[in-house]
Amino acid sequence: MSRPKPPLLLAMSASLALLASVAGAQTAIEAPHYNSEGELLYPEDTDMWVHMGSSLGSDYSEGPFDPENPGTLGVVQMEPSAYRYFMENNEYADGTMFLLSFYASESESSPQLSGFVQGQLNAKEIHVIDSARFEEGRGFFLYEAEDIAGDASPKLPNGSTCVVCHMAEGDYNGTFTQFYPPIRDNVPAG
Ligand code: HEC
Repeated sequence: MSRPKPPLLLAMSASLALLASVAGAQTAIEAPHYNSEGELLYPEDTDMWVHMGSSLGSDYSEGPFDPENPGTLGVVQMEPSAYRYFMENNEYADGTMFLLSFYASESESSPQLSGFVQGQLNAKEIHVIDSARFEEGRGFFLYEAEDIAGDASPKLPNGSTCVVCHMAEGDYNGTFTQFYPPIRDNVPAG
């Protein structure tokens, strides 16, 4: 039978975990949650995640950019404990999550301005970095706009187009840090 640990023991195990990370052992943050099939559960409180950057019209389409109809707005956010870890250590912990949300670009805002605002949410994608869990060091997961916290999605298979483009073009560890002003200056050189 397990009893609740007294606070002193909890504090001791917390400092042991800290020592392990200082000693260079594999550091993991416990933010992603999976079901028994290994599917990623859509995280809670993603509105609180740290905004990394937004792009307009980068919806992988082949056609030229059309200023009248600029396409999708992509908004990238980073899970906060992963963000803190990265800012302190200049590397990702296992369990680092990024969320990319696709919004329709909307020009019929009120008051009417000449630019575009975020319209309807169309889809969401999550990139989890985890060298211990995934053979490719990462997993990509797709969600519907309607999906809420706890909804499960399977990892896309190894060798997906996601992995290929991200590893070839992303500046750091398969992520597009070159487009993320809050973290790009902390990316290790090389
Ligand atoms: C042709 C290249 C390309 C492919 C293929 C691609 N991406 Fe991306 N991805 C990008 C770019 C560029 C960004 C930077 C943000 C932006 O431009 O919207 C990005 C950003 C992301 C992010 C934000 C975190 C990060 O890694 O930088 C997620 C999550 C993501 N993509 C998921 C996916 C998923 C899931 C797939 C496969 C279904 C996929 N991507 C396929 C180019 C690609």
